[in-house]
Amino acid sequence: MQVDLTLKNSKFPYLNELVEGDIEIKDGKIFAIKKVSSNPSEKKIDVKGKLVLPGVIDVHVHFREPGYSYKEDWETGSMAAAAGGVTTVLDMPNTNPPTLTNANLEEKRTYARKSIINFGFHFGSSKGKLNEIARAKNIVSVKVYMANKNPDLIINQVEDLEKILRLTKERKLPVTVHAEDHSTIIKLEEKIEARGLEPLKFYGKVRSRECAIKAMEKILRAYCSVGGKIHVCHVSTKEETLLLQNIKLSKPDITAEVTPHHLFLTEEEFLNKGSVGKVNPPLREEKDNIELFKAVLNGTISVVASDHAPHTLEEKEKEIEEASPGFPGVQTLLPLLLNQVNKGNISILRVCRITSENPAAIFNLKDKGKVKEGFDADLTVVDLKKSYVIRNEEMYSKCGWTPFHHKRVKGKVLLTIVNGEIAFDDAGPQKSLGKEVKVSC
Ligand code: DOR
Ligand code: ZN
Repeated sequence: MQVDLTLKNSKFPYLNELVEGDIEIKDGKIFAIKKVSSNPSEKKIDVKGKLVLPGVIDVHVHFREPGYSYKEDWETGSMAAAAGGVTTVLDMPNTNPPTLTNANLEEKRTYARKSIINFGFHFGSSKGKLNEIARAKNIVSVKVYMANKNPDLIINQVEDLEKILRLTKERKLPVTVHAEDHSTIIKLEEKIEARGLEPLKFYGKVRSRECAIKAMEKILRAYCSVGGKIHVCHVSTKEETLLLQNIKLSKPDITAEVTPHHLFLTEEEFLNKGSVGKVNPPLREEKDNIELFKAVLNGTISVVASDHAPHTLEEKEKEIEEASPGFPGVQTLLPLLLNQVNKGNISILRVCRITSENPAAIFNLKDKGKVKEGFDADLTVVDLKKSYVIRNEEMYSKCGWTPFHHKRVKGKVLLTIVNGEIAFDDAGPQKSLGKEVKVSC
């Protein structure tokens, strides 16, 4: 049997250990895994013992189309993803228009055709439009914003959260939650005398840790009364990890993610840099970085996702109240984690679980998340020993900057394969064809 591509001399995770061998690919799928390949192959790549990982599934990106294509579009966002070893992204609904109806979803699908990597969609929720959820096809989750600058998107009451859980429970569809409590933000805004405080100190006080903790408490109340599947986005505080750890002892269907910026950056580092460090939820303290990392290691947090939220530098450089919150991150997610592998802080097998296997399991993505026969040939070849400096100029995102500018990391993406085709190699991103994920629920 002739195959399309063979990756010779690969090292890859298989049944929970690293093994060596050849990977044969045919029709976009992993056809066979062998010690030594036996089928004739149209193309062969000798990866010379380098690591071949299951392609990263970034479950939280904002590719901005429709509506904000001046800061990102599906072509540039997916190029940045491919350069970062990401083979699938799950896009958030806060576009313009937001993805709240099936017509909105269909429109977004037409934009995503430009993507060079695979993609799926989180569906939005708005109090007046919840009836759209039942009709939405092939969505990966229903997203709830407990705080947002668009008031139509805010769902802040426990009863409304419960309603959405009831609507999704039967389908085993996850409810993905931005956990910052709108009512606490309003109270703090009223209370705080803003003037005279340092910009980012002020910001971290309004979007305080209490506001994240309060939101998590509301989520847990709804989850305990209705059940269903909940995925908590970008956990940022030690206290949230403790609440999660406790509830997971008896109710394991709640999962959570953390971003690299909440793992590796602190608010303090950005205090003298104006508003560029503004992000929701805000950066916290070193003690939070440490506890969040521990939670990744002990399984309380099962996914690391970028929350790739590109904004132009002009939008970031405004006064703190006006500046846009968010960081780009899809291109730097995997290198930052490989750097931690090199420091001996996390195993490469756990990195595969938190960036690929767990995302596929939580969001019911068919045939993704593992290097396994019959699974989609979404693979990332990395050189774990290669060290380099992350630089703004090397970012493919349209926004053209990264909060990790000048950081040296060890661990580099060499090759990204999407559906058996090369999406990124040493010549840069390639014109491959991304496909929508198949959701099995
Ligand atoms: O900082 C953020 N930016 N947090 C969010 O939840 C949204 C995001 C964005 O879309 O810019
Ligand atoms: Zn987000």
